[in-house]
Amino acid sequence: MSFYETIYTQLPEAVILTDKLYRIVSLNKKAEEILGVKEADAQGIKFLELVNSPQIYSLLEETLLFSRSPNLTYENSTILLTIRDRKKYFKLSMVPIFFFDELKFVLTTLTDITMLKEIEQIKTDFFATASHEFRTPLTSILMGVGIIKTGQLGELSPRGKEILEAIEEDCARLLKLSNNLLDLSRLETGIIAMEMEDASVYKMIKAALGTLKLQAEKRNIKLYTKLPPDLPLVKADINKIIWVLTNLVGNALRYTNEGGSITVRAIRKGTRLFCSVIDTGKGIPAEFHERIFQKYIQIKDEDFPSGGAGLGLTICKEIVEAHGGEIWVKSKPGKGSIFTFSIPVSRS
Ligand SMILES: Nc1ncnc2c1ncn2[C@@H]1O[C@H](COP(=O)(O)OP(=O)(O)OP(=O)(O)O)[C@@H](O)[C@H]1O
Ligand SMILES: [Mg+2]
Repeated sequence: MSFYETIYTQLPEAVILTDKLYRIVSLNKKAEEILGVKEADAQGIKFLELVNSPQIYSLLEETLLFSRSPNLTYENSTILLTIRDRKKYFKLSMVPIFFFDELKFVLTTLTDITMLKEIEQIKTDFFATASHEFRTPLTSILMGVGIIKTGQLGELSPRGKEILEAIEEDCARLLKLSNNLLDLSRLETGIIAMEMEDASVYKMIKAALGTLKLQAEKRNIKLYTKLPPDLPLVKADINKIIWVLTNLVGNALRYTNEGGSITVRAIRKGTRLFCSVIDTGKGIPAEFHERIFQKYIQIKDEDFPSGGAGLGLTICKEIVEAHGGEIWVKSKPGKGSIFTFSIPVSRS
């Protein structure tokens, strides 16, 4: 065995080489171990016959079609395989291999990330417990502050009132953070089930805007809707989609200057309904368009302090994806932003 062959065989990552017809050409030792098959027995067999994973298939297809590594996201590059009755998570990567400018093979590597996933689970469980434990005392502090503020328990000095108001604001923010952390961990672990029903888009938009009207008036920001009269019903968990809308419009309000405007638009295309929240706000640089949907990612800007924790859009994404939809943003700094999400229309 040559020097390079020895290294290839003994790599700690599984390496799988397939041809243009998705057939196995070569496996290293780790791949044999993971797939439970010897290289000699696997050669010529389709990769998908060894691992029945639509995810791997579509990434292989993409690599062959575009002659480049596929666009890997955290979600589509993590796969779950059951090996000797144990569930294991792998991070997958793919590269096309060229000989004399012609694409001949695809090299797939699988890295075992089960331990990382387990740590992630412990962290999620911890967040869920901690945020749950925070909520009850925070709610009672808020209620207590509310009662003292009314003056029922004795006259308050102006300074006393000021301090109480600051406590109230901080408490409300902490409570929102705790609720968001709890919701997110429940969504991530699939504990919150979607309660799908036939829902009216008009009603959901109206409910979301209703809660934000006053805030918009205070900031002198106009709220508009642009809705065709014949929108179909959608298959949705009404409260959760109202949550998404409230958050998108809430963000638009937060990141738009006084005098600006926000428009909520909806349109049907085939079996999908596309809903957009359009603002004339500060906009988002291109390198953040995908990242802002990840946890805790915020764009630092002294003129537009967030006051939140960077969880709103992550929760929106979880909810929309649980509906089988997608969410994305189009934006240019200084030119405003358009957040759009899609959800399926009702069949009935
Ligand atoms: N409409 C918008 N215009 C400009 N920037 C935005 C807009 N919406 C979101 N962002 C940017 O994306 C970041 C992430 O948004 P997200 O809603 O997840 O968190 P947040 O608003 O900072 O806090 P939270 O929603 O948890 O209270 C924001 O901090 C902001 O920098
Ligand atoms: Mg937000």
